[in-house]
Formats: sequence, structure tokens, C-alpha cells
Amino acid sequence: MKICCIGAGYVGGPTMAVIAFKCPEIEVVVVDIAAPRINAWNSEQLPIYEPGLDDVVKQCRGKNLFFSTDVEKHVAEADIVFVSVNTPTKTQGLGAGKAADLTYWESAARMIADVSKSDKIVVEKSTVPVKTAEAIERILTHNRKGINFNILSNPEFLAEGTAIADLFNPDRVLIGGRETPEGQKAIKTLKDVYAHWVSDDRILCTNLWSAELSKLAANAFLAQRISSVNAMSALCEATGADVSQVSHAIGTDSRIGPKFLNASVGFGGSCFQKDILNLVYICECNGLPEVANYWKQVIKVNDYQKTRFVNRIVSSMFNTVSGKKIAILGFAFKKDTGDTRETPAIDVCKGLLGDKAKLSIYDPQVTEEQITRDLSMKKFDWDHPAHLQPSSPVTNNKQVSVVWDAYEAIKDAHGICILTEWDEFKKLDYQKVYESMQKPAFVFDGRNVVDANKLREIGFIVYSIGKPL
Ligand code: NAD
Ligand code: UGA
Repeated sequence: MKICCIGAGYVGGPTMAVIAFKCPEIEVVVVDIAAPRINAWNSEQLPIYEPGLDDVVKQCRGKNLFFSTDVEKHVAEADIVFVSVNTPTKTQGLGAGKAADLTYWESAARMIADVSKSDKIVVEKSTVPVKTAEAIERILTHNRKGINFNILSNPEFLAEGTAIADLFNPDRVLIGGRETPEGQKAIKTLKDVYAHWVSDDRILCTNLWSAELSKLAANAFLAQRISSVNAMSALCEATGADVSQVSHAIGTDSRIGPKFLNASVGFGGSCFQKDILNLVYICECNGLPEVANYWKQVIKVNDYQKTRFVNRIVSSMFNTVSGKKIAILGFAFKKDTGDTRETPAIDVCKGLLGDKAKLSIYDPQVTEEQITRDLSMKKFDWDHPAHLQPSSPVTNNKQVSVVWDAYEAIKDAHGICILTEWDEFKKLDYQKVYESMQKPAFVFDGRNVVDANKLREIGFIVYSIGKPL
């Protein structure tokens, strides 16, 4: 059997590496139109940072795992084609700012239809609006060459930073297909791939629309938990309750559960916002404005949390940060990834820059080039890759410097903002940090990683999310 995956990104790369690792008899080829990305997958420096990924890739690459730009050849030869291209939020036209932009998906589907000479199972790995399979089926069969395409929805639930662990030991694998004999046969073929390492009870089979919608629903529910706890954090600050204690207290109720209740500066990442906006748009299109408004509120609370954080910084620092150096610790949207897509750090930095602060940014996994690009990009443009777009200018901002050491970022700063929960920020020598800063020295902990009381003993003024001052 030969598998080809279109899209060598955060999902395509790790998922295919794990399939190749677990299924040595299957040839897996990951293809992409972005040559630099493919070159990086074939090099010592993989294009994404993900714990455990290097090991898996090194064990299979060149044996049964390949990365190539020869998209058409490998698609033509494959029995199963996964499509894992980006599905960003539309920036223009009908549904701009909400609807999913399926341009990349559609062009992949047209190419599959054009180059195929044998029957294929086409798997939606990307997150797509419910009912996309119907449109894709129409595209696949447009040139009526007598080839059978069976379309499956197999959404991915991995989280970045833990992708390999999630793929090795998934809570579930979801496969949706047509309820016809051919559809069921296609489900069985894909199920057999996962059955190499996932137990039967964890492979859920549904109809196409349930699988497509379950992915949007899962992300909406996860993000909703964070907005719920973040909304509580504002009330905690107003009342003297401590959000960590509240999270613990409610999380011990087995119906609520303890996970995903960490208050923060706001959720980020490439998918939560995009997928909820997509869900909102689908609800609106289906004449369900109340449902749309319910989910829209999850995004509004997230935006409120980021704004609230910036306002807190400015108001604490005597109502102005103009000309003041602020150290930004962490830029990635969560720890253990170098990914900055929709990171709350972008909004917080832009907010502070708007008040004329001078920022010194440090993140162990994010380059200066990436940060500069992120801070000069318009909302939603980030997921329309540069190589697929007319070139956009990257502006150098004199208010921003990017350094490779936390202590250097902090030296002579008036305040520190912790925006990613990297473990190393817990272990800094805060006495040394205090001595190197302007006084009064402020810490704004957007991830609740520091021991605020210990820092206060040193002399810092500390603001944590959802905790008494
Ligand atoms: P990504 O941007 O990292 O990767 C997508 C890749 O597809 C890019 O390298 C791009 O060059 C390539 N591509 C686009 N059009 C192409 C075409 N026509 N032919 C060949 N290659 C093409 O995106 P990602 O983070 O891997 O996400 C992919 C999909 O998976 C999205 O729909 C996303 O919502 C979903 N998803 C992402 C995650 C995650 O953690 N990042 C988790 C679950 C699901
Ligand atoms: C999320 C989901 O967890 C995955 O199941 C899903 O496959 C993926 O989106 C996707 O569709 O892209 P990811 O965005 O990689 O994964 O990372 P998460 O661990 O979910 O974190 C998302 C954001 O929420 C981060 O900014 C994180 O810091 C924040 N978060 C998370 C909190 O603020 N509090 C929490 O308690 C948990």
C-alpha cells in the first residue's frame, strides 16, 4: 500500500511520520508545493520543533517515509491520499473574517482528480466546514474518467508540543465515511492502518458529517473552557478569589474534570479562533443566529482577556509605558513549540507598542525573523503562506528588539511580561533579575508560572491572572 499526504505542515509531517513508524510495510510520502519546507524535512533541522519528532523521522526517513515536491507523481501512485493543507479564515469576499478559505483544499482536490489513473481513498485531514466532503466529491468526479474516489473525514486531534505523544496514544481516532458498501469498505481500509497501534474501541466510525462537525465541536468546547475560566479570572481579581483554587475546586467534580482549566492571557494557536469563526459562520448560514452568538462569545472573551492584560500593564505602570523597556518572555502560543500562529503575544505586543513601549523579546524557539513578520502582519494573513501569496513587506520596528537570553531581555527593563509558560521562566534567578531592573520592578505573569509571593518578598510588584494582588 502507498499513502501520500498533501501538505507537509504541523499536521501532515508528524501524523505521516507516525503512520510510517507504526506501519513499516506501508510506503508514506509527504508532498508539498513549498520546496523550502520539503528540504527542511529532508535535512537535520526539521521545519517544526516538536518533542520526539526528530527520533521518529530519523528512524523511518529513506526507508518507508519520504518527503517530496513531486506532488503529482506521488498522488498518482497512492492508494490513500490524505489532504492536510491549511484551511485559513477568509480575508476577503463572502464570509471574510469568519468562513474557511478552501482555496488550498480545492486546488489539491482538482489536482488529485487530474492526475489520478487508479481508484483512491481521499482523506480529509485538514479541519473543514461540515459538508465539505460533498463539494470535494463533486470536484473529484468532475472529469468523469471512470475512477472511483471514496472520500473519508479523518480529523486530527493532536495538540502541538505533545503531537507525538498524542499520535502514539490518541484518546480516539475518528473516521467518517459514506454509509454505502463502498464507503464502509474505505472506512475499513483506513481503520486497518490505525489498527497497527490503536485499539479497536478507540477508533470511532461515523457518517461524514458527524466526523467533520465533531472536529469543529471539539475545538469549540476546548476553547470554551478556557474562555470560561478566563472570564472567572476577571471576577476573581475583582473579588479576591484565586482562580487556581477555583479551577481546582470545580475540576474535582468528575463531571467537569481537571484538565484545560488554566487561566491565561488568552488562548492562541492556529485553530481555536479559526475553527470557532468557521462554526459561527456555518450557524449563521443555517439560520441559527442564537447558536452563532453563543460561540462568538468564546472569541470575544478571549479578545477581552488579552486587552485586559495590556490595560493592566499600562495602568499599573502609572498609565504610560511610553519609552519604557518591557521584557517579553515567551512568544510562542504555548510551551514546547516554536509556533506563533495567533499567539496572544502578538496582540499583547501590539497593544504595548501602541502605547509606545520598547520591547525586548525572548523565546527559546522563535526567531527574530518570525517575530518581526508576526508583528507586521495583518489579522488572518498569517495562515496564507508567503509562498502562496504576493510578497508582503516585513517592516523592521525600532521599538522591538529580539534577544537570545532571558536575562539580556530583562536587563534595565521596567517590567517583565510572561506570555508563554516555558519551564525555564520558573527557574530564573529572580533575585538577580530584580537587581538588573529599573525600580519599581513589575512582573505581569500571563501564564501564572511564577511564585508571586516569593517575588513580592524580593521586592517585585507582581500581577498574576485571576489572583489577589
Ligand atoms: P500548515 O500551514 O503547517 O501546513 C499546510 C501545508 O500545506 C503548507 O506547508 C502548504 O505549503 C501546503 N499546501 C497548501 N496548499 C497545497 C497544495 N495545493 N499542494 C501541496 N501543498 C499545499 O498547516 P497545519 O497546521 O499542518 O494544518 C493543516 C490543517 O490541519 C488545517 O486545516 C488545520 O486546521 C488542521 N489541524 C491543525 C492542527 C495543528 O495543531 N496545527 C491540529 C489539528 C488539525
Ligand atoms: C488544540 C487542541 O487541543 C487539539 O486537540 C486540536 O487538534 C488542535 O487545537 C487543532 O485543531 O489545531 P493546540 O492549539 O495545538 O491544540 O494546543 P492547546 O494545548 O489546545 O492550546 C491552545 C491554546 O490554549 C494555547 O495558547 C494554550 O496556552 C491555551 N490554553 C490551554 C490555556 O490558556 N489554558 C488551558 O488550560 C489550556
